[in-house]
Amino acid sequence: MNLMTTSNLTTQLLHTATTLARQAGAMALEGRRNGLQNVQTKSTATDMVTEFDKASEVMIVQGLESMRPDDAIIGEEGASHSGTSGITWHIDPIDGTTNFLYALPTWAVSIGAVDEQGPIAGAVYIPALDEMFFATRGGGAFCNGAPIRCNPLDDVSKALVCTGFSYAADQRTLQATRVARFIHQVRDIRRFGAASIDMCFVACGRFDAYFEENLHSWDIAAGDLIAREAGCQTGDFEGNAIRPAQVLVSPPQIFRQLSTLILASSARDR
Ligand code: IPD
Ligand code: CA
Ligand code: CA
Repeated sequence: MNLMTTSNLTTQLLHTATTLARQAGAMALEGRRNGLQNVQTKSTATDMVTEFDKASEVMIVQGLESMRPDDAIIGEEGASHSGTSGITWHIDPIDGTTNFLYALPTWAVSIGAVDEQGPIAGAVYIPALDEMFFATRGGGAFCNGAPIRCNPLDDVSKALVCTGFSYAADQRTLQATRVARFIHQVRDIRRFGAASIDMCFVACGRFDAYFEENLHSWDIAAGDLIAREAGCQTGDFEGNAIRPAQVLVSPPQIFRQLSTLILASSARDR
């Protein structure tokens, strides 16, 4: 018989996520300050990976193996473990590697725990800002321990909208063209370069909304939970369940308005 209650389990998962995100983030920040030795490319000539992406993932996986040995793990840099507990960890060891490479502060360690109902606990740690965003399902969202909420915006024309562009050059051109078609109908557009941070920044009101295509589970597992627990609506562009291929995060009042702008701008490509 499993004697762990749901709330004990959630607390333990959150503790695990925040502990390992902070530990790996501190290691990568210190390493970055001492200089990069090994920078390589992955899916395209602009999709970079450093020794610290790999070291961060190794540190997190070793921590999970010791703290939660029965859980499954999926990591961007190749970690793939099966488990028996029903919990799967989705790890982005450095989200925003291009920012990391350029010593910009907006990169994060993103760790989300998912069960059969979706994300249950997640942490996004931004080492250069020493900001720990975290949430548990039904338990609210927080930044450095203080509760966070998205902006109560009801007019998309006043929205500061963040987006991201794919590493594939042809897709990026298409995505930028779509944005150009509606940029005059929102307050402005931002491209920060780390999907997990983009979602957390909507959650705490630093952006009003965020959308992007072609992400992966490790980009969104933690950020989706943090955003929803902060009052956001998350989904695909049609308003169905969020999926890495299509991510839209906004206050519920403008979700449909923004979705209409994105879909209308995309329809002209078909
Ligand atoms: C990337 C960042 C970026 C987004 C890309 C992601 P990475 O993650 O989140 O903002 O536009 O689609 O792949 O490669 O830095 O972990
Ligand atoms: Ca990422
Ligand atoms: Ca990454």
